[in-house]
Amino acid sequence: MRICIVGAGYVGLVSAAVFADWGHHVVCIENDLQKVTRIQEGDLPVFEPGLPNLVKRNVQEGRLLFTADFTHGIQEQDLIMIAVGTPPGDNGHPNLTALWNVVKALKEYARSSMMVAIKSTVPIGTCDAVSRYLNADTEFRFDVVSTPEFLRQGTAIADFLSPDRMVIGCRTDSAKQILKKLFEPLECPVVFTDWQSAEMIKYAANVFLATKISYINTIANLCEEVGANIHQVALGIGLDHRIGPAFLKPGVGFGGSCLPKDTQAIVALGEANGVDVSLFREVLRLNHEQHMRVVKKLEKCLGGLEGKKIAVLGLAFKANTNDVREAPSLAIISRIVELGGQVIAYDPAADMEALRRLLDFIPAADPYEAVTGADAAVVLTEWEEFYGMDLQRVGDLMNNRLIIDGRNLFAPQVMSQYGFHYVPVGIPKQA
Ligand code: UGA
Repeated sequence: MRICIVGAGYVGLVSAAVFADWGHHVVCIENDLQKVTRIQEGDLPVFEPGLPNLVKRNVQEGRLLFTADFTHGIQEQDLIMIAVGTPPGDNGHPNLTALWNVVKALKEYARSSMMVAIKSTVPIGTCDAVSRYLNADTEFRFDVVSTPEFLRQGTAIADFLSPDRMVIGCRTDSAKQILKKLFEPLECPVVFTDWQSAEMIKYAANVFLATKISYINTIANLCEEVGANIHQVALGIGLDHRIGPAFLKPGVGFGGSCLPKDTQAIVALGEANGVDVSLFREVLRLNHEQHMRVVKKLEKCLGGLEGKKIAVLGLAFKANTNDVREAPSLAIISRIVELGGQVIAYDPAADMEALRRLLDFIPAADPYEAVTGADAAVVLTEWEEFYGMDLQRVGDLMNNRLIIDGRNLFAPQVMSQYGFHYVPVGIPKQA
């Protein structure tokens, strides 16, 4: 097939590279010319394990092309797939400017009928609105399809290749057949449905995951108070197939470009439609409280943060990504600084310079530099590098052997052998 993907973010790039690897001819359009040049030189705008090699190989073998030339890029394609960003906009609703710019350009430059799949996360009703717009006053037919994406950053290629399901919202049999053929290599159930349901599935899935995290964090906080161990509790409840073991890891609260934004969007959708969505509003509030809980633990252990030196290990919203959008580290560092603390932070991938424009902290070159002279260390991201730290060295470098571990990286018994006052999540003090 000849496929055109608009948008070279992590969804667009992963989809383009995998489709090309399956033997399709793929053109990926990115309107930022500098970004196109960088991608062609092998410098990808996203940090995704395995992606640079996949892109490089398919570019070299001539199946994958990047261009900023929209007018030519969209011609004579079997499928146009839109994968541009829909960042948070006003009042919780996503900002659809980039999406509509693409749709308008499609209508303006189309020289034939085309199939248009929307992969970006869009509010319910968007496919309908796009289809009406594209098909009004034109000699061509635009067959619009909703193909929501369920990739996670950091494991995007593996997620793409072995999804739990595909969801396709379409109106015509020809679209159904083309997408069935495209996704043939994937052995998974396919839910063919209408546009609105497909769009809702994407939001409903992310909001369910967000709810599951606020749920397990609340149970973990209770465990700390009543002497239960969250690892045992999560195992015991996760084995019930109605609940499932995934997304039961307690932590510092969820972040990233999707879960917070999509939960806010569902809240906004409920408010606009007179539906009680207080459950999801509470999920967001609890998530913020979970970020703040880290700071409260620090304050409690240190008797206040004024003049204290705090090492922050991990800034990215989770491991294996450099993304700090809505990362718990942002709220946590701001609060520590507000309370008079000084932060020295280390992250193996996050863009430190960009972060320093937003936050007041001193960057460190490695975890050991970060903990040197620190009154406490806080673990906010589950980077593998932290699991393997030389704990003896960490303890010796610190001013005070206190670790608030928001990701439960270490065994409490081991930490006490090294003489740490170790505060994990959901594990009682005596464990
Ligand atoms: C999420 C969804 O998992 C994907 O299915 C979806 O495609 C994507 O959003 C999207 O809409 O594009 P992602 O944001 O990459 O993917 O990250 P997740 O792996 O879902 O993690 C989200 C947050 O939840 C992270 O901050 C993570 O640390 C936290 N988390 C996750 C927990 O605190 N506990 C868990 O058990 C799992």
